Amino acid sequence: MNISGCRVGVAVTGSFCTFSKIYKAVQEITAQGAKIIPIFSNSVQSIDSRFGKSADWIKVFSDLSEHPPVFTIQEAEPIGPKNLLDILLIAPCTGNTLAKLANGVTDTPVLMAAKGHLRNNKPVVIFLSSNDSLGSNLKNIGLLMNSKNIYFVPFGQDSPEGKPNSMVSHTEQIIPALEEALDGRQLQPVVKPY
Ligand SMILES: Cc1cc2nc3c(=O)[nH]c(=O)nc-3n(C[C@H](O)[C@H](O)[C@H](O)COP(=O)(O)O)c2cc1C
Repeated sequence: MNISGCRVGVAVTGSFCTFSKIYKAVQEITAQGAKIIPIFSNSVQSIDSRFGKSADWIKVFSDLSEHPPVFTIQEAEPIGPKNLLDILLIAPCTGNTLAKLANGVTDTPVLMAAKGHLRNNKPVVIFLSSNDSLGSNLKNIGLLMNSKNIYFVPFGQDSPEGKPNSMVSHTEQIIPALEEALDGRQLQPVVKPY
């Protein structure tokens, strides 16, 4: 299904090095006619890093939306009961958020958005970005791959020599993965080398 006209939650978590490429992908999502609701994890709201200031990133993502950004668990809570989204993209998704999602923890706005949205039996798409994807988080990837309504943007080892446990999703596969997930399918191949 085409994303044009869809309501896409864009949940941003603290893999700061990916923000510029995720931002370009979200621009393309809006250019293709989707309406986004930005949702920010607590770390994104509080950490300035060498990849930019928190306030600046929040502004540029929020400027892509007509909907006010979601900053708190209270603000995320209506996403389920008011049926605000067709699909939720967690991009980037840290190892931290991935582990919590896989284990039923709901202590950030992003996780509250996912919980509320999943109760409506609708798709969540994960853009993986973690240095321990093939380490302590591999079991969580496996759990989520076997979970109803959870899909992945295809991922691969981005630096097999330098960071052998790291895996990151492919930015150019975000929109195709959303389109497949809207039809209830995982975009394949889900493991795609860099
Ligand atoms: C500069 C910087 C870069 C980071 N990059 C990543 C990353 O790429 N992947 C990841 O899983 N965690 C990364 N982290 C760690 C997360 O930000 C940290 O685990 C945080 O608690 C995540 O919270 P959140 O998932 O609620 O956003 C980074 C932290 C910093 C300060």
